[in-house]
Amino acid sequence: MRESLRFLLGDRLVEIDRCDPTLTVLDWLRLDQRMTGTKEGCAEGDCGACTIVVGRLDRGNLRYEAINACIRFLPTLDGCQLLTVEHLKGADGSLHPVQQAMVECHGAQCGFCTPGFVMSLLALRLNEAEPSVGRIEDALAGNLCRCTGYEPIIAAGRRMDAIAPREADPFLREREAVAARLAALNDTETLALQGEGGRFYAPATTEALAGLVAAHPQATLVAGATDVGLWVTKAMKRLDPVIYLGRIEALRTISDDGDHLRVGAMACHIDVRNALAALSPQLDELMRRFGGEQVRNAGTIGGNIANGSPIGDLPPALIALDATLVLARRSETAIERRSIPLESFFIEYRKQDRRHGEFVEAVLVPKLAGSMLFHASKVSKRFDEDISAVCGAFRLTLGSEGRISEARLAYGGMAGIPKRAAAAEAALVGQIWNETAVTAAIAALPQDFTPLDDMRASAHYRLKIAGNLLRRFLIETTQGATETRVAGLLAEAGHG
Ligand SMILES: Cc1cc2nc3c(=O)[nH]c(=O)nc-3n(C[C@H](O)[C@H](O)[C@H](O)COP(=O)(O)OP(=O)(O)OC[C@H]3O[C@@H](n4cnc5c(N)ncnc54)[C@H](O)[C@@H]3O)c2cc1C
Ligand code: FES
Ligand code: FES
Repeated sequence: MRESLRFLLGDRLVEIDRCDPTLTVLDWLRLDQRMTGTKEGCAEGDCGACTIVVGRLDRGNLRYEAINACIRFLPTLDGCQLLTVEHLKGADGSLHPVQQAMVECHGAQCGFCTPGFVMSLLALRLNEAEPSVGRIEDALAGNLCRCTGYEPIIAAGRRMDAIAPREADPFLREREAVAARLAALNDTETLALQGEGGRFYAPATTEALAGLVAAHPQATLVAGATDVGLWVTKAMKRLDPVIYLGRIEALRTISDDGDHLRVGAMACHIDVRNALAALSPQLDELMRRFGGEQVRNAGTIGGNIANGSPIGDLPPALIALDATLVLARRSETAIERRSIPLESFFIEYRKQDRRHGEFVEAVLVPKLAGSMLFHASKVSKRFDEDISAVCGAFRLTLGSEGRISEARLAYGGMAGIPKRAAAAEAALVGQIWNETAVTAAIAALPQDFTPLDDMRASAHYRLKIAGNLLRRFLIETTQGATETRVAGLLAEAGHG
């Protein structure tokens, strides 16, 4: 085991021998390093004031991602490069093109949110040439500003490449050299760190992970920490030991296995979005609205499932698609795996079918056949970066004479777990997909669900929306010209 954390802070190699497992990157920067450019607003991943850029190796290539420093644990940066707003200034004191664009477009007033916006725009610039307004809006959806309004900041996003071409960007010029330095840091040893708050492990292989989970069954597994981070910053929980899954490349892999996709548990939502978009444009929209870019860069499919939340966005979509969950653990001699239908993983509120020592290894997602109709919808108070009040995903298989031979209607936000609507499904099977069938299915929904009343929505609203989503499904599949989506309307207005 290696007992020292190693990463690059800008171009400086940092090595740390003792570190608390849940010390946040933000606290380390501000309190330990006195690098106070990175701000704390909400400390729960919502406002983006703490945005940093993390460079990590992805199959040998350096990949830059905007991340929320407030909910990211420092030891998870092992083998990465950490960039903060302090790293942008040139050696001669000149501003980076992103900063210069913000100045020229008047993108700051009080300035508190500004470093976060600058870092989100930096990540965008490092990844994409001449991004569209839609992409700039996407990249900034996880950053809140109370002063300027967003127009000047979006204008800065459009201006930055005109100030200096991307090819001349110092970070892109250094890319290969940084990748080589990170490659030298990345080994196959398990990282084991001790701090006053407890112990942190980061295995580099699935086998080592299985061994650690078996040896420490009480450990908290951490993937992107977009849920777990809040247990620390908001619920003030002490987690000891922590086992981090992010160094295991095999768990991040997504492969096309013919009739299905195999998505590793550590695939982040940006990659999951790209993979699922190939199955349905509605899955692309669903994932575009999952958190902000910082949350999609860090959060993972495995975390969204294992968390067991009734309002997670991926489980309803994956259940409607009839996905299979692959769970793994160490047996006497090797890794033992079992595959279960994803829907059976969720037993009751916060209780899952997870055996001693098991972790989520992958999700198998069947592709849609030509005889299938599919729908996915998220309803939340805000379009961007908001948790669902109701999320619905539906798959119908049409048999002879266009009759429905199988119906899979899955909802989030309607029960203590993501759940299928068995009575509504029964009302559809054997019917022609039309207004009569959808009316019968909607009438059956109260047998399936007694939704919660909470701050996101009342029970009455949830039930009404659950039915309306089925009707939207019918309209979308039978009246193609009718625009039913905010995203579609935005695209028409040039914001797509
Ligand atoms: C600002 C913000 C916006 C958000 N927006 C959305 C949204 O729009 N939709 C939505 O669904 N969620 C949203 N979330 C919640 C969160 O981002 C997701 O649930 C995310 O997918 C969690 O993944 P993670 O990798 O960060 O998990 P973590 O936080 O690392 O872990 C979550 C849980 O899963 C366990 N776990 C993780 N990986 C594994 C594994 N492989 N095997 C076993 N157990 C594991 C952990 O122990 C923990 O219990 C949001 C969160 C924030 C902070
Ligand atoms: S401080 Fe608000 S997202 Fe981190
Ligand atoms: S400039 Fe004040 S919050 Fe954005």
